[in-house]
Amino acid sequence: MPDLTHRPRRLRRTEALRSLVRETRLAREDFILPLFACTGTKVRREIKSMPGVCNLSVDEIANEAAAAFDAGVKGIMLFGLPETKDETASGAYNEDGIVQQAIRAIKKSAPDLIVMADTCLCEYTSHGHCGVVRDGEVINDESLELLAQTAVSQAAAGADLVAPSAMMDGQVGAIREALDEAGFDQIPIMAYAVKYASALYGPFREAADSAPAFGDRRAYQMDAPNAREAMHEAELDYLEGADILMVKPATIYLDVLKTMREEFDVPLAAYHVSGEYAMIKAAAQNGWIDEQRVMMETLTSIKRAGADIILTYYAREAIKALG
Ligand code: PBG
Ligand code: ZN
Repeated sequence: MPDLTHRPRRLRRTEALRSLVRETRLAREDFILPLFACTGTKVRREIKSMPGVCNLSVDEIANEAAAAFDAGVKGIMLFGLPETKDETASGAYNEDGIVQQAIRAIKKSAPDLIVMADTCLCEYTSHGHCGVVRDGEVINDESLELLAQTAVSQAAAGADLVAPSAMMDGQVGAIREALDEAGFDQIPIMAYAVKYASALYGPFREAADSAPAFGDRRAYQMDAPNAREAMHEAELDYLEGADILMVKPATIYLDVLKTMREEFDVPLAAYHVSGEYAMIKAAAQNGWIDEQRVMMETLTSIKRAGADIILTYYAREAIKALG
């Protein structure tokens, strides 16, 4: 006989024992639900590639946010689909922009819900890029001013936190400076610090109508094979004043998340993105996997790798599954 002094199975025998020695536990506080605000009234338009996720008009999003809060969701991340788009993304920083309206409505319907605003230009530019375009290129430094204006207008509308996602160099510093000057020194920044140029944003671009009209985002979002560069990106955002650092997408970049956990002591977020959600949904709708179990196993893996905060379209279902 081999030496069986150690038998790991002893602690797996019953659910009570397994629960006693469980290392990672999801909690209802872990999740942020992304929501998409659109123009009109009484609009609930389901995204084909994201079953269960809708574009919601301001009246509807106010109800949806309140219902999510009642169901245990502590925070939401807002995106907007403006009426019109232009070269300078004016809908992003207009006082009456779609996200600004949604923020004000949600702050009324669910005052204790944490309202986060995604700070980017791609949903508002006619060309769909995350910054100002000239001669086919996204110009970094000119984009900073518009991103800073966007963040300030989101804070002025009542956002509790802003989340720059454009991947422009210096965007966190520019936004921090502008917020402070405008009297919003208490508004935290959650930086999309490590955001890869991923094929998994496809369904989101349908949801937010934000696909680039030409080219792609590889000249500003990160190259998938690079992990060391992720630490450099994260370090820069940290030094520019980011309060929370994010990795995105989540599940196929868990190695990066794990290294971030070792290197940084600020809170870490991970974005379980639209494509990651859509893949689970599609397999489940075919009856090929158990949706709830795959969802919980996936979200657990993100927490186990080191995330404190998980942005996911599954926020409500996960909280429900936790009971
Ligand atoms: C905007 C933004 C994107 C996502 C979050 N913020 C899309 C993109 O970079 O093209 C993706 C989220 C998702 O796929 O769920 N810059
Ligand atoms: Zn963008």
